Amino acid sequence: MILANKDVLGLEEMPAEEILGVLDIAAQFRAVFDRPVRSVPIMRGRTVVNFFHEPSTRTRISFELAEKRLSADIVNFSAATSSFKKGETLRDTAENLAAMKIDMLIVRHGSPGSARYLAKVLECSVINAGDGGHEHPTQGLLDIMTMRQRLGDLRGRKVTIIGDIAHSRVARSNIWGLTKLGAEVTLCGPPTMVPGALAKLGEKVRVEHDLRTAVADADVLNVLRIQLERGAGKGFPSNREYHRMYGITEDVVHGLKPEAFVMHPGPMNRDVEIASEVADGPRQVILDQVANGVAVRMALIYLLSGGDPRALGGSTA
Ligand code: CP
Repeated sequence: MILANKDVLGLEEMPAEEILGVLDIAAQFRAVFDRPVRSVPIMRGRTVVNFFHEPSTRTRISFELAEKRLSADIVNFSAATSSFKKGETLRDTAENLAAMKIDMLIVRHGSPGSARYLAKVLECSVINAGDGGHEHPTQGLLDIMTMRQRLGDLRGRKVTIIGDIAHSRVARSNIWGLTKLGAEVTLCGPPTMVPGALAKLGEKVRVEHDLRTAVADADVLNVLRIQLERGAGKGFPSNREYHRMYGITEDVVHGLKPEAFVMHPGPMNRDVEIASEVADGPRQVILDQVANGVAVRMALIYLLSGGDPRALGGSTA
C-alpha cells in the first residue's frame, strides 16, 4: 500500500515515501504513452467525477485523459449548468453525486479547505485539483517528477520559485514536496507577494527579493503565473514594471548555471512573468510538465482505487 489515506488533499500531509512511491508508479504509466495503444483496462467499471468549480485547461483535461487511459467511466460536472446555479450547496451537490455510487471525486474549488471538507463528508476518495490559495498537490507532484527526470535525487538541489507566492497553491505544494525530498527552496518576488514570513515554512526555505541573487546558483527556476484574478495585480505598479524587475528573460537565463532549466505550471502570462523567447526556448521543460501531469494523475487514481503496484511490474522504492 503506497497511499495511507483514502484521499489526496495536499503534499503537506504526504510523507516523502508516499511521494516517491507515487512518482515511481507515474514513471511506469509515463512509459505507456510511448506505446501505440495508450490505455490500459485497469479501471474498467469504476466511476470518476471531475467536479470543477473554477476554470481549468491543463488539470481538467489531464485528469480526464488519465481516467480515460485507465478505462474508467467519467462524468464531467459543470457548475455553470448545474443546480449550483439554483443555490444548492457544495456539500449537497457532492452528496447527491456520491449517492449515484461514484468511486472518486476530483475537486477544484476557489475556497481553501473545500477538498478536505468534501473528503470528510464523503465515503469515496477525493483528489484535490486545486483549492483556492491552499494546495495543488497533483501540480506539485508533476513538477517534482519533471525535476527528478533531469536531476535524479533532489537532495541538496536548489529550486527557485519566482512570483506571486502569497497567492499560490502551486508554490505551497512545491515547497512541501521539495523540502521533504531534501531540496533547498528559494522564494523570490516583490515583498508584497513574497512576505519574509514565508521562510518559516521550513529550514530549507529562504526568501530572496533580488532576482539575480535568487537564481545565481539555482538548478531549477519554477516561474509562477501572476494571478491577476486573485488580486495579485495590486502587489506591483504595472505588468511592465513586474517584467522589468522579476520577469524571466533571455538575459536572466544567460546568467544561470549551464544545466539549469525553467518550468512554469501554466497558464502563462507571456512577457509578464516569462518572456516569450524563454517560454519557447531550449531551457524550458513546460510541455514535459504537462505530459507528466497525466502520468501522475493516472498513478494517484490507480493507487486510490486499490491498484497493486506489483501488478504493474516495477519497483516501488
Ligand atoms: N497548472 C494548472 O493548474 O493549470 P489549469 O488552471 O489550466 O488547470
